[in-house]
Amino acid sequence: MQGRTCLSIVLAAGEGTRMQSTRPKVLHALAGRSLLGHVLAAVREAGGTATSVVIGPGHEAVAAEAKRALPDAEIHLQNERRGTAHAVLMAKAALARGVDDVVVIFGDTPLLSSQTLRRLRAALADGAAVAVLGFRPADPTGYGRLIVEQGQLTGIREEKDATPDERAITLCNGGLMALAGKHALDILERIGDDNAKREFYLTDAVSIARELALNTATIEVEEDEVLGINTKAQLAEAEAVLQKRLRQAALEAGVTMQAPETVFLAADTKLGRDVTVEPYVVFGPGVVVEDGAVIHSFSHLEGAHVGTGVSVGPFARLRPGAELGANSRVGNFVEVKEAKLGEGTKANHLSYIGDAIVGAEANIGAGTIFCNYDGEAKHRSEVGKGAFIGSNSALVSPVKIGEGAYVATGSVITDDVPADALVFGRARQVVKENRAKALRAKAAAGKKKAK
Ligand code: UD1
Ligand code: CA
Repeated sequence: MQGRTCLSIVLAAGEGTRMQSTRPKVLHALAGRSLLGHVLAAVREAGGTATSVVIGPGHEAVAAEAKRALPDAEIHLQNERRGTAHAVLMAKAALARGVDDVVVIFGDTPLLSSQTLRRLRAALADGAAVAVLGFRPADPTGYGRLIVEQGQLTGIREEKDATPDERAITLCNGGLMALAGKHALDILERIGDDNAKREFYLTDAVSIARELALNTATIEVEEDEVLGINTKAQLAEAEAVLQKRLRQAALEAGVTMQAPETVFLAADTKLGRDVTVEPYVVFGPGVVVEDGAVIHSFSHLEGAHVGTGVSVGPFARLRPGAELGANSRVGNFVEVKEAKLGEGTKANHLSYIGDAIVGAEANIGAGTIFCNYDGEAKHRSEVGKGAFIGSNSALVSPVKIGEGAYVATGSVITDDVPADALVFGRARQVVKENRAKALRAKAAAGKKKAK
């Protein structure tokens, strides 16, 4: 592949009506990343020269996701859904610039690897004008069938157009195609819409290449890799495949999981060595867990950084911006959002820590709430190193608790507390001797009267 230029064209214009969703199909998520995000990650890894993404009308969110995943992707609009070949031609401006290899990838085929993209291109380097990805699905329903005659791929028949004999073919079109740049435009412009769906089928590129006496090639891969997502059931199937891969990779990297099948990872989850993840933990996108940390059962993490040796959960929720310093502890029913906990700090039970910076070796007592929202805006608070926040305290943000300060249990803190101060933010306890008896007598008398 060295020295060969490559244009990747990603088709993402389909509405995906079978998803029964208002969301564009390619924005559905797998392991915390959009289908399009997965495809573009493979494209980036394969290392092409340029990437074009074809989107549908009104799909600004798809364009934004493409730009997020691959900032220099060029966006093209397909105003009407008229088939995969029609969609590819929407990137004609990019095609006309001339490249060695053109690779067409469907935005709804998220499990594709960069290695497969390279294999397809290698077939072009070996002299094919059109190279197609083939696979043998357990259930071929809906896929185009590859027609091979005397060892040469001569055509692809869409299921809707296939004869019963052709439908019996087990080798199917994975959807990926590579075309030699010097023939690509010529081939694509010859494609017509004479078929059951009256669409311009990219798959016709194969028979046209044969008519032009050009070579074709098939690269066969496992079904997993080319699983196309047309329905929510297929989305769930792909999720299962991907989770299996992610768990395997985590185990190989030295993560301990007693029941990996119950742990859900995101495509970008980073787990260090000797991290333990107990059963039933869910990782959303953007989580990094450093070496030796333990994530106890039933915890949910998203956009969080968990330091070395930290203990999280059981039943903890880490939301975006949670940063837990080394050896800190976040226990059961504790929620942390947009907050930093210093080294060795403990928040062991029943707390909400939002929009805050907590210094090292502090103790956040059970039931402590950082009241960060006043109904209009969010406010930030700070708790100094070594401070002790007594149980069931409410810190009304913005407020600063100095280093080493001690907040008495049940306090409502509305003003800053200086370092090393002891603060009471609650009513003083009043004891009235024997008054319980009197109170009961009064209540009993009232009851009698009512009768
Ligand atoms: C396609 C192939 C089929 C293959 C299967 C593999 C064609 C004609 N058929 O069928 O041989 O087995 O994929 O998954 O290529 N798209 C556009 N604009 C359009 C039409 C489609 O951008 O006008 C995009 C869709 O967003 C989708 C991709 O192209 O990402 C494939 O379209 P889809 O309708 O899903 O094709 P299949 O029927 O699955
Ligand atoms: Ca499809």
